[in-house]
Amino acid sequence: MRVLVGITGGIAAYKSAEIIREFSELGHEVRVIATPNALRFIGAATLEALSHNQLFSDLYSDIPDVRHIELAKWAQSILVAPATASFLARTASGLADDLLGNVILATTAPVAVAPAMHTEMWFNSATEANVKTLRTRGITVIDPGSGRLTGDDVGVGRLPEAKQLVQATLNLVTPKDLVGKSVLVIAGGTREFIDPVRYIGNRSSGKQGIALVEEAVSRGASVTLIAANFDYESSQVSVHRVVDTDQLVLAISALKLDFDFIVMPAAVSDYRAKAVSDKKLKRTSSDYSLELIANPDVIASLSAEARRVNPNVRVVGFAAETAEGSDLMALAREKMARKHLDLIVANDVSGGAAFDVDENTVQIVSVRNSRVVTGTKRLIAAEIYTDLLDSKSLS
Ligand code: CTP
Repeated sequence: MRVLVGITGGIAAYKSAEIIREFSELGHEVRVIATPNALRFIGAATLEALSHNQLFSDLYSDIPDVRHIELAKWAQSILVAPATASFLARTASGLADDLLGNVILATTAPVAVAPAMHTEMWFNSATEANVKTLRTRGITVIDPGSGRLTGDDVGVGRLPEAKQLVQATLNLVTPKDLVGKSVLVIAGGTREFIDPVRYIGNRSSGKQGIALVEEAVSRGASVTLIAANFDYESSQVSVHRVVDTDQLVLAISALKLDFDFIVMPAAVSDYRAKAVSDKKLKRTSSDYSLELIANPDVIASLSAEARRVNPNVRVVGFAAETAEGSDLMALAREKMARKHLDLIVANDVSGGAAFDVDENTVQIVSVRNSRVVTGTKRLIAAEIYTDLLDSKSLS
């Protein structure tokens, strides 16, 4: 995608370097407009080096090229980060007294702005009115985060993390092809307690689950998440937190199960302790044996029950295997049949690969098709939903 990054004159301007790098690393083409005040906080050389493009700042340079119109037409999406209170006010009034203001008035591309300022300025009624005006006009205003500000103060007004801003910008152009669909994501790793301090757990971080949730939300789905031992909060997602497999089964039984898609990257413990001690187990000089009993296969019964409620539901499981190539695919297909799944996403976890990382290589396997996908967990999530929407991919 062709992304135009606008930078205005606040201290958080130094963070725009990270934003530009993030867009470039994801393969997007980036051009940058920094206002003259932004250039008091970050150097033109940094911005040109990271964007691999000439920096634009002055309205009265490149006059024969009619730069403001050229940039306005070139951009497929625009992110202004940080956006100062002054920028918000100028844009809300439709002022075009600098290059960035001209481009924003002239473009038809979707625009996101990320305000960053001191808390008092953010909550000032003038700023609040400007933000409201911008939102009414279809500009996406990304709420600032909370935390340490420039001085000793702490509060609302921080520029959110680069990754979050980049994702919000990419969401502006994401197809809304999951509108009307309801999605259940079950993610993370269960913990089976042995005593009040010890448990049997696994290395699942919940990252693939978060990617599945955020991709579904950005494409317009209504999303429910069951999160086993990781934190996730979003006003757009119904989140249920669980710790062990018992709680997971209970959380599922409390849902209506009328979902269109169920996707379960969760690592569920296959066993739990037969007896859980309510006192901390004491060390003795002899060896200790722990008796384990089997947990239910959650996705197998969930799949059967969900199909009773909605015969058209599509259920996706994950297969963590220490195998590769055709062996991996054969194991995945056997699991897919045993657990009544429509798709299975197979991972080679040899050497602990795939856990708590941002990128992965998986095979997305259906009864007859199989394809390898390498990329961020978000990209893998996007490919899974694309397959779910295409009935040919599921045959
Ligand atoms: N799963 C489940 N309940 C379990 C174990 C796994 O619902 N008790 C789900 C996982 O969430 C995943 C799929 O089943 O979507 C496959 O998980 P995996 O650990 O690869 O398979 P297992 O059933 O544990 O099989 P095996 O131990 O033979 O690899």
